[in-house]
Amino acid sequence: MIHYGKHNVNEDDVAAVCDVLRNENLTQDHKGIEFEAALCQYTGARYCITVNSATSALHIACLALGIGENDTVWTSPNSFVASANCALYSGARVDFVDIHPISRNIDINALNTKLAEAKRSDQLPKAIIVVHFAGNSCEMKELQQLLQPLDIALIEDASHALGGTYLDKPVGNCEFSNFCVFSFHPVKSMTTGEGGALMVNCPDLAKNARLYAKHGITRTVSDYDYFTGQPWEYEQQVLGFNYRLSDIQSALGISQLNRLDSFIAKRRALVARYNQLLADLPLKLPVDNPQTESAWHLYVVELRNHEQRAVYDYMLSKGVQLNVHYIPIHLQPHYRRLGFSPGDFPVAEKYYKMALTLPLYPDLTESQQDFVVATLKEALD
Ligand SMILES: Cc1ncc(COP(=O)(O)O)c(C=O)c1O
Repeated sequence: MIHYGKHNVNEDDVAAVCDVLRNENLTQDHKGIEFEAALCQYTGARYCITVNSATSALHIACLALGIGENDTVWTSPNSFVASANCALYSGARVDFVDIHPISRNIDINALNTKLAEAKRSDQLPKAIIVVHFAGNSCEMKELQQLLQPLDIALIEDASHALGGTYLDKPVGNCEFSNFCVFSFHPVKSMTTGEGGALMVNCPDLAKNARLYAKHGITRTVSDYDYFTGQPWEYEQQVLGFNYRLSDIQSALGISQLNRLDSFIAKRRALVARYNQLLADLPLKLPVDNPQTESAWHLYVVELRNHEQRAVYDYMLSKGVQLNVHYIPIHLQPHYRRLGFSPGDFPVAEKYYKMALTLPLYPDLTESQQDFVVATLKEALD
């Protein structure tokens, strides 16, 4: 079976993990610090807080921004549920902004219109979480220009986009945002098994986010300015969580990060082949944005005339497991109970009914890719 995504783990990764198991602390310690420094170095951000998932990173970003009851957070309906759930965890309300049919990212014109309406009714959101869908960065400069004058915080959900660039700089440098979140789930650009990271430039936000990721506990003055205790004491300053990433995972992360550029290069080469091999089929192919270099987490095609389920089933019967990204979040039962309905975000809904994610990962061989393409041709015949 060829799946839509797969991690790549080699002997260096295994050795790095075994080294920690044999020699070092297992929980967050030196390897954690080293991994955070390596991610700062790679992206250009000032601070990094590694945590046990991107979901946790999104949550502590919301908490560090002071998002809570009486606040609203907007995000894209075309994402994994975590992009919206993090606001609910924080006690806030969630709303969505429809996507652009080409980029499949948040639609800046739709956002502009919604902001104007919200301003008139004094219902502006406290933060917007934009999602770099499939690895392709949103238009961050334009978003910042729109949101900064309104004092709305901007969080990048870059779970798909580690290794990509925007305006020739690495995604994650937070030049135009308050926070940027990465996921290290096994199908992503690189993996720590499970894991995530929060990138940030503002020292106060970094300190706050770190506090929420570690039970809200401070141990030393350097942890938090107002710590006054004895050397053996700790103080719980706020209601935080245990979101730590272990040193076992950080060791894997450091080792994987060393190969990240080669992973992305392989993904890009496979995408170039897909673009060529699929050019004559009745499909809408993903489009490159000249401002960005995608990390190509996903290669999503849209059907023009065919039935999504029939194509999916045919591929599966031949040993190719496609996926669909994403069921619009507002159509999930939990969100329907919060008041959302079909028709609320029509572009995301229409896109979802036509989308299919083809296999794409560094170890996908050209002959496997040829098989995927040949089988897809049969399915569309
Ligand atoms: C866009 C997006 N945001 C958030 C997440 C959550 O990531 P994690 O599994 O690391 O919590 C995912 C994972 O699939 C994702 O695709």
